Amino acid sequence: MQIKAVASALAIASLAAAAVPTTGVAHVKNADGVDIKFVFTTVPKGLNVTITGKGLTIAKRVLATGYDYHVHVKPVTNGNCSSTGGHLDPTNVTTAKPCDPKNLTLCQTGDLAGKFGNFMGTEDGVLPFTDYIDTQLKFEGDANNTIIGRSIVIHNNGTRIACADIITEGSATPTSGTDAPKTTSGAVKLAGSLALSGVVAFMMLAL
Ligand SMILES: *[C@@H]1O[C@H](CO)[C@@H](O)[C@H](O)[C@H]1NC(C)=O
Ligand SMILES: *[C@@H]1O[C@H](CO)[C@@H](O)[C@H](O)[C@H]1NC(C)=O
Ligand SMILES: *[C@@H]1O[C@H](CO)[C@@H](O)[C@H](O)[C@H]1NC(C)=O
Ligand SMILES: *[C@@H]1O[C@H](CO)[C@@H](O)[C@H](O)[C@H]1NC(C)=O
Ligand SMILES: *[C@@H]1O[C@H](CO)[C@@H](O)[C@H](O)[C@H]1NC(C)=O
Ligand SMILES: *[C@@H]1O[C@H](CO)[C@@H](O)[C@H](O)[C@H]1NC(C)=O
Repeated sequence: MQIKAVASALAIASLAAAAVPTTGVAHVKNADGVDIKFVFTTVPKGLNVTITGKGLTIAKRVLATGYDYHVHVKPVTNGNCSSTGGHLDPTNVTTAKPCDPKNLTLCQTGDLAGKFGNFMGTEDGVLPFTDYIDTQLKFEGDANNTIIGRSIVIHNNGTRIACADIITEGSATPTSGTDAPKTTSGAVKLAGSLALSGVVAFMMLAL
């Protein structure tokens, strides 16, 4: 009886956890050696963003100001970074005025480079460990605001050199809003159902 109660509690906790993800990952790679992992984790003030990886060299950098990068509104179709649409900008800031990290009302929500600085590149391409809290990014909220179902794109003087979908835990996919992503990730659903089937298997063992 006790085991069954624990198993049920676990099943309920697992369903609740699936509703709003707490972690998202974008693994940005290209054929030219870019291999960078963005991890988004929920913290009280927003999302904790950690960035690790390699492939951004000073030699390939077109501008001395570095490589900029953003959250784009749509997921990647067929590996084509141009398919991701524009920057996530639910408050319609546009790029008319440059982002000011001290005044976020001037920053597009998706303009991570504008808020926290460009990647400058290094001799060997290895990125210094990067970690910051972004108070505008969120998993929750309406379809215009969430970063669920969107992508990360890295630019080199405007050219989109590498991109990847933000894959989250759970399945809280936005369904409405002008900028709502049009497709959902199969990987997200699969991960959710695998987690759930694990709990079900445990419950059956307990019986
Ligand atoms: C953000 O994540 C990094 C890496 O896991 C961790 O070291 C850091 O303490 C986290 N920051 C907050 C505010 O949770
Ligand atoms: C990539 O996406 C853009 C924008 O949707 C489109 O115009 C272009 O034709 C696509 N390129 C390829 C090779 O599919
Ligand atoms: C965004 O701002 C531009 C320029 O100020 C304006 O023309 C446009 O209608 C706005 N779009 C939305 C969706 O508010
Ligand atoms: C932030 O920018 C907005 C829009 O330009 C401006 O109205 C506001 O005064 C600025 N706030 C601060 C604290 O500078
Ligand atoms: C950067 O891109 C712009 C616009 O495409 C182009 O005019 C400029 O020449 C490029 N800069 C360099 C240094 O290649
Ligand atoms: C998304 O933004 C558009 C235009 O800014 C607005 O009309 C719409 O109501 C928003 N959607 C949600 C779900 O808030």
